[in-house]
Amino acid sequence: MTETRNFYIETFGCQMNERDSEIMAQLLGQSAYVETSRPEDADCIVINTCSIRGKAAQKAYSLLGGYRKLKERRPSLVIAMAGCVAQQDGESLLKKMPYLDLVIGPQNIYRLPELVDAARRRSVRTAATGLADDFVIPPFLPEINKGSAHKRFVTIMQGCNNFCTYCVVPHTRGREVSRRPEDIIAEVRHLADHGVREVTLLGQNVNSYGRDRQAAGTGGINAGENDRVMDFPALLREIAALEGIRRLRFTTSHPKDLSPELIRCFAEIDKLCPHFHLPVQSGSDRILARMNRKYTRADYLARVAELRRARPDIAISTDIIVGFPGETEEDFAATMELVNYVRYSSAFSFKFSGRPNAAAADFPDQVPEEVKSERLARLQAQLEEISGEISAAMVGHAVEVMVEGRSKNDAEQWSGRTPCNRIVNFVCDRQLIPGQVLQVHLEEACRHSLRGRAGAA
Ligand code: 5AD
Ligand code: SF4
Repeated sequence: MTETRNFYIETFGCQMNERDSEIMAQLLGQSAYVETSRPEDADCIVINTCSIRGKAAQKAYSLLGGYRKLKERRPSLVIAMAGCVAQQDGESLLKKMPYLDLVIGPQNIYRLPELVDAARRRSVRTAATGLADDFVIPPFLPEINKGSAHKRFVTIMQGCNNFCTYCVVPHTRGREVSRRPEDIIAEVRHLADHGVREVTLLGQNVNSYGRDRQAAGTGGINAGENDRVMDFPALLREIAALEGIRRLRFTTSHPKDLSPELIRCFAEIDKLCPHFHLPVQSGSDRILARMNRKYTRADYLARVAELRRARPDIAISTDIIVGFPGETEEDFAATMELVNYVRYSSAFSFKFSGRPNAAAADFPDQVPEEVKSERLARLQAQLEEISGEISAAMVGHAVEVMVEGRSKNDAEQWSGRTPCNRIVNFVCDRQLIPGQVLQVHLEEACRHSLRGRAGAA
């Protein structure tokens, strides 16, 4: 009988990391490990880290520090650090932390079982942080009995070529590498065949999907001569044509790469949910230029107007950074004004955080912490108010909801999401299954959700 061992994975950061953790869990599962929810019971612990802001990186470090005791108690325990902090700090982590066995960058997760095995059997400590421009993401069919049964993430590309001056990602995830369209379509088909109804396509900048593969045979670095090459709108159309998939989403987009063809997809593809996450970062042209965003406020607003023309019910969400170096009260006022004009359905907002290798960390005119906090509070109050007003305006209408399951707070109620991704808790006396779609009449707007009643069957 083969001995089974337990693994425990803790994930920080973005959806790309969540998907990478699923892949690592699947790989460990295939090599005789069983997942546990208790780190004390684990023979292998993986911390999948995020480095986007200083706080996120700090959290990973302190968690890792806490696992030191477990290793002292059980020296056969293998501890691995994966993700963007691992990529960024590499080999030096092994020196700093003698109880850490493995450091694995995002391009190296597929080697996890082999590296864990070497660490366990031969105490080999490795920093696998190679980052190649011509990296090929291996084809990988997801396990179906793990994670959410009706909605899943599918990574379509990794890396980023944009070098926004605040951002660590191009330094940790390398250049843009698109997966082969055949592999992506096979993965989505596999998910659909197993009951998945909603897919979110993931990439740091999905709008430039396929660009690295274009001109196959004539210089495109990531495609062989006979490979199919397609851009993002073409990929969306092929995936939308797959039977079984009812809802299609994607994230994240860069405003400068938002093409008329992608905007047309919102008018023409029913399954494409009317929700667009379009990070603006700032409403001030001066700050956008210093961020190296390569668009102006006017360019951004023109894209928003085009999206709304193509799909009048589209919900637009965003990311905003306050307190970027050199941001004056006037620059910040321009951001507030833009927020009031666009009326975002939801938004993530952050205080600027200087990151290793990202140029803005060394800009001379850093904004004091208290100014950042005060601006963030003002911005968030405004964003909440607008989002609340948008929810309130939905009350009295019927919306299509995809069922997620029973409501977390009230087992008598069901919970699901609208096409624009708002949570709806609702009463329904029929039995429902996750992934099922039904009409819900909205009766009340709460802080971060809506309440309603299911329509007749
Ligand atoms: N400081 C604060 N926020 C940041 N983001 C990225 N880098 C930083 C940073 N150094 C934010 C951006 C991005 C989101 C994922 O995180 O708004 O869109
Ligand atoms: Fe970072 Fe800019 Fe690339 Fe987004 S587009 S990952 S913010 S460098």
